Amino acid sequence: MNSFKDKINRNALPNHVAIIMDGNGRWAKANGKPRVFGHTNGVKSVRAVTEAAAELQIKYLTLYAFSTENWNRPAEEVNALMGLLVSTIESETETLNKNNVRLTTIGDTKRLPKPVYDKLLECIASTANNTGTTLNLALSYSSRWEIREMVKNISTDVKNGKIEPDSITDDTIASYMATKNMPDPELLIRTSGEYRISNFLLWQIAYSELYFTPVMWPDFTKEHFFEIIADYQTRERRFGLTGEQVEK
Ligand code: FPP
Repeated sequence: MNSFKDKINRNALPNHVAIIMDGNGRWAKANGKPRVFGHTNGVKSVRAVTEAAAELQIKYLTLYAFSTENWNRPAEEVNALMGLLVSTIESETETLNKNNVRLTTIGDTKRLPKPVYDKLLECIASTANNTGTTLNLALSYSSRWEIREMVKNISTDVKNGKIEPDSITDDTIASYMATKNMPDPELLIRTSGEYRISNFLLWQIAYSELYFTPVMWPDFTKEHFFEIIADYQTRERRFGLTGEQVEK
């Protein structure tokens, strides 16, 4: 069987792909199982897309793993997700290193339970020198949290005379964001048939291509990922210009 992977032009890959992994709960319900079963199966898809991104040598893959709003879910589900994070990081660190994948995070990770936070730091340190794909997990993340922090930090630096208000550019703002060392995502994918952004990377996706798939996250495979990358490569990105200007 032909794979979408063969259709991908390796010279026109996105540098950064972001994914809103959605549908774990509905997938579990459809299978007559508790919601946590969906999250457990969602880990397989996390592994699959990480491998797919590493195979293509995509520089950055950001996964929305836990939002600020997710703290308000039932304690049992929050605890299960935290446990899953620890066990996955524990079991996958070796594979990340084998695949030259570096782990980073964005979000208010200090809010995470200490064992989760410590495990993350351990994996971040262990993979820090890898030079392939950066797997960036958004944890305890929301865009409004990030924007609020940016405004607070810029205001403080203005107050302390470190920056002049008139000198503030888009690049200044980007440098105060959690994603400061990453390019903006060229492509944002959301699974599960919902057409929402849900407080994710609002500043960074100004010009991103959006792809919404009905596939529930636990059913999402490498092949789905390759298919979406191939579709992305058929799109014309105009950045506010005309088609004729872009074709020149
Ligand atoms: C959305 O589905 C998914 C989440 C809130 C969590 C995603 C977590 C994982 C895939 C597992 C752990 C992650 C890592 C990186 C090891 P939902 O629960 O909102 O589904 P629903 O909309 O159908 O209820």
